[in-house]
This record gives sequence, C-alpha cells and structure tokens, in this order.
Amino acid sequence: MGHTMKWGTLLPKRPCLWLSQLLVLAGLFHFCSGITPKSVTKRVKETVVLSCDYNTTTEELASLRIYWQKDSKMVLAILLGKVQVWSEYENRTITDINNNPRIVILALRLSDSGTYTCVIQKPDLKGTYKVEHLTSVKLMIRADFPVPTINDLGNPSPNIRRVICSTSGGFPRPYLSWLENGEELNATNTTLSQDPETKLYTISSELDFNMTSNHSFLCLVKYGDLTVSQTFYWQESKPTPSANQHLPWTIIIPVSACGISVIIAVMLACLTCRNAARCRRRRRNENMEMQRWSVSIKSVEG
Ligand SMILES: *[C@@H]1O[C@H](CO)[C@@H](O)[C@H](O)[C@H]1NC(C)=O
Ligand SMILES: *[C@@H]1O[C@H](CO)[C@@H](O)[C@H](O)[C@H]1NC(C)=O
Ligand SMILES: *[C@@H]1O[C@H](CO)[C@@H](O)[C@H](O)[C@H]1NC(C)=O
Ligand SMILES: *[C@@H]1O[C@H](CO)[C@@H](O)[C@H](O)[C@H]1NC(C)=O
Ligand SMILES: *[C@@H]1O[C@H](CO)[C@@H](O)[C@H](O)[C@H]1NC(C)=O
Ligand SMILES: *[C@@H]1O[C@H](CO)[C@@H](O)[C@H](O)[C@H]1NC(C)=O
Repeated sequence: MGHTMKWGTLLPKRPCLWLSQLLVLAGLFHFCSGITPKSVTKRVKETVVLSCDYNTTTEELASLRIYWQKDSKMVLAILLGKVQVWSEYENRTITDINNNPRIVILALRLSDSGTYTCVIQKPDLKGTYKVEHLTSVKLMIRADFPVPTINDLGNPSPNIRRVICSTSGGFPRPYLSWLENGEELNATNTTLSQDPETKLYTISSELDFNMTSNHSFLCLVKYGDLTVSQTFYWQESKPTPSANQHLPWTIIIPVSACGISVIIAVMLACLTCRNAARCRRRRRNENMEMQRWSVSIKSVEG
C-alpha cells in the first residue's frame, strides 16, 4: 500500500520516467506476443468504444492501474480510481470503469488514427506493479466526401447558364473536374479550402454552358483512391420560349374571368328586374282589389 502511495506522489514529478517505463513494457509485451491488433474503422465526428477486454471484479478494480496510449503518446490513465486525460483527448473522452474497463472517444478527428493499447498493471504479493494484461486496437479514421451537390446560379448572360458543384468534409486533398461525353471541360472559379483545425477539405467549381442544346455534365471529385460524382442533365430550351408559351394563358385567364363575371352580373340584374316587376304588378293588383272592396262596402253602407 505504501508503495502505491509512493507511485502516486512520484508521478507528477517524474512523468517521463514512468511513462518510458510503461512504453518499454508495452513494447516488450507487444514484441513477445506478436499478435496483430484488431482494427476498427470509423468516420470523422463518430464515436468509438475501446475496450481493455479484461474481465475483473469491483474489488480488484480499485487496485489496478489502467493506461491507454496511442502509438507512443499517452491518452488516459486511471490510478487509484482517479482518471487523468491528456489534453488532446480532454473533454471528449468518457471512462467507463466497470468489470470490463473501457473508454469512449467522442467527436473523432483524423489525427485520432493509430494503434491504441490498454495496459493493465496489478500489484503482486510484494506490492510491485506488473503488467497483467495488454490489448491493442488499430483505429482508422476515414473522412469521405459526400456525393457532390450541383446548384443553379442563374444566367450570367443570355442563353448561358451557370451551375456550381461542391462537396466538403473529406480528406485527403480533392481534385474536381467537369466532364461531358468523357471530355474535360473548362471550369471557372474552382476553389479549395482546408479547415485548419479538422484538416478537412471543401471544394467547389463553377461551369458555364450554352442553354440552347442538351447537356449531361459529370462533376467528378477524386481524393486518395476514391471518387464521388454527380451528374447534371440539361434539356435544351428555345431562346425565347417563355414569352410565347405564357402569352395565351395571361390573356385567357383574365378574359374568361371578365366574361364570366359579366354574364353573372347580367343574370343577376335580369332576375332582380323581373322580381321587382312582379312585385310592383302584385302590389298594383292588391291596391285595385282594396279599392274595389271599399267601393262595395261604401255602396252597402249607402
Ligand atoms: C468477460 O465476460 C463476458 C461475460 O460477462 C464474457 O462474454 C467474456 O468472454 C469474458 N471475457 C474474458 C476475456 O474473459
Ligand atoms: C475542456 O473544458 C474546460 C471547461 O469547459 C475548458 O476550460 C478546457 O479548456 C477544455 N479543454 C480542452 C482541451 O478543450
Ligand atoms: C478551354 O480553354 C482553353 C484555353 O483557355 C481553350 O483553348 C479551349 O478551347 C477551352 N475549351 C472549351 C471546351 O471551352
Ligand atoms: C468565385 O466563387 C466565390 C465563392 O464561391 C465567389 O465569392 C466569387 O465571386 C466567384 N468569382 C467569380 C469571378 O465568379
Ligand atoms: C449557343 O449555341 C447556339 C447554337 O448552338 C449559338 O447560336 C449561340 O451563339 C450560342 N450562344 C453563346 C452565347 O455562345
Ligand atoms: C433534347 O432532349 C429532348 C428531350 O429529351 C429531345 O426531345 C430533343 O430532341 C433533344 N434535342 C437534341 C438536339 O438532341
């Protein structure tokens, strides 16, 4: 136990010593075992779970030292149940200390590629820590470009159309070309940029074409051994098709609307006229009837 305390207090003062010791041990074990590590492939921004593949008990766990290193750099250490995370992995690593210790690395970066080794040290009867278990996992990080998108930028001049092809978030450096019937076209304004932090690339390129014929353009992006592409189809359009096609409708709709409303108005007017006439006639008849009545009453009285 006293030994453990000494290790703990020595640690910050002589980090190089124990680190090199650890790496030598790890290297030695690795050399002896000669096992090729299993490999995992992930994409940028994804999450990976790395397990030590070591079953233990809760009681034993408290006495273990667990180290995670990547190639020859420290990632994480668990000493006396305390977790220490190296700056490159700070704020994006979760440590799961259970019966099968493992770590979770979030928001993977290209630079996270490498071989990760978990070293578990256990005290022997004399209290000396010895390597108890060692596991390696080869992590490969991919950054695939998504299929490019092609967007319309409108007409820079009559009968000329401009489109833009773009894709982003991939690695390594991409090359973009526009092809029609297997022939490369002259692109305009091709831009390439790289995020200084993530090292991922963004590429875009514009193409101008004559709208008066049919086209099938291929936007091809090559990076490493891989390619992504998008096809853009264009159907010829007559130089001034919109004016001729839309003229009849612009006339037909208002004219027919006017005609219908005139007809409705006339019909309504006729109906009201006829009703009014009928009313007037009925009222006149009633008046005449009344007069006749009063005349007959008067004659009876008289
Ligand atoms: C650890 O335990 C799990 C089940 O609890 C078992 O499936 C696995 O094989 C064990 N691994 C080792 C290395 O003993
Ligand atoms: C981790 O988060 C803390 C608190 O939010 C912050 O102070 C620190 O700079 C972060 N570390 C890294 C390496 O981003
Ligand atoms: C591309 O540009 C070159 C020179 O800038 C020119 O000779 C060639 O005709 C152009 N090709 C097309 C398809 O416009
Ligand atoms: C080139 O593209 C960039 C961004 O895509 C734009 O800001 C710039 O105006 C374009 N230049 C020309 C000449 O089209
Ligand atoms: C587009 O093509 C037509 C015939 O295919 C041609 O008459 C016209 O000049 C071209 N327009 C431009 C701007 O190149
Ligand atoms: C362009 O495409 C349309 C529809 O596919 C077709 O009707 C037309 O004949 C084509 N024009 C030429 C010049 O190939």
